[in-house]
Amino acid sequence: MGTIAYVDGRYVPHGRALVHVEDRGYQFADAVYEVIGIHRGRPVDEAEHLERLGRSLAAARIDWPVAEKALRIKIVEMIRRNRITSRGMVYIQISRGVAPRNHIFPPSCHPVLVMTAKALPSFDWSAACRGVAVITTADLRWRRCDIKSTSLIANVLARQDAHEAGAFEAWLVEGDVVTEGTASNAWIVTHDGLLRTHNADNAILNGITRRAVMHLAAEHGLSLREGAFTLSEAKAAAEAFLTSTTSMVKPVVRIDDAVIGDGAIGPLSRRLLAYYVEHVGEPGH
Ligand SMILES: Cc1ncc(COP(=O)(O)O)c(C=O)c1O
Repeated sequence: MGTIAYVDGRYVPHGRALVHVEDRGYQFADAVYEVIGIHRGRPVDEAEHLERLGRSLAAARIDWPVAEKALRIKIVEMIRRNRITSRGMVYIQISRGVAPRNHIFPPSCHPVLVMTAKALPSFDWSAACRGVAVITTADLRWRRCDIKSTSLIANVLARQDAHEAGAFEAWLVEGDVVTEGTASNAWIVTHDGLLRTHNADNAILNGITRRAVMHLAAEHGLSLREGAFTLSEAKAAAEAFLTSTTSMVKPVVRIDDAVIGDGAIGPLSRRLLAYYVEHVGEPGH
């Protein structure tokens, strides 16, 4: 983690960045968050992330802690103070505030803004092309996955299962439909070259990377169908990949015991990765 955090109005050394024991984010997960990627020292798709933050806040009925313009300035300041000159990420969390524990909204408290930032290893094309395995597990989350809430225990448990199975991610399955990953969106490519990803409803978080990849696919004339796909369709797919701010476009070469394609990054995944790498301004291959 970087050296400087931001807690409720102050930049503080990371080791002394503390929130109150009665912060509602801590007690109830009564909080929302964003993760913004940094490339070449600059936030990527910041407007889209802040727009989604505004939606999450509105859905949770939490006020903006500061004006959006002020938040943008603080993000730049976090990047500067943490000396992130190439790749990194900024984490932004907003809780309803600090008040004696009670489910009902407190009559007076202010939203608490917390930010951390860290540098990530510089982009490496061959590492980015390396495929990963995913496991699948029941989607046990609540029914408002479109809100980027800090209530992530179901995601944490599923991700731990993936980790213990030696996999990179867990894809969550509702009925026979793959909704998304614990911290990423799930994609497949059919044998006739059609890109598929779950539609943006309450069952998934509408990823900013997902949206960028959708735009890039359209721009390059690739065919895409937004809508649910089943686990058996995923296992029989020609290609699979996942998208997220930190993983970018990550090829998936195994789903449970099924090897996808020939077990290496597929041609469409490679093209989309290249388009996305260009989108964020990293050097290509
Ligand atoms: C559940 C879930 N889905 C999808 C994503 C991908 O979203 P984004 O591309 O905005 O990082 C995330 C990111 O953290 C997530 O937590």
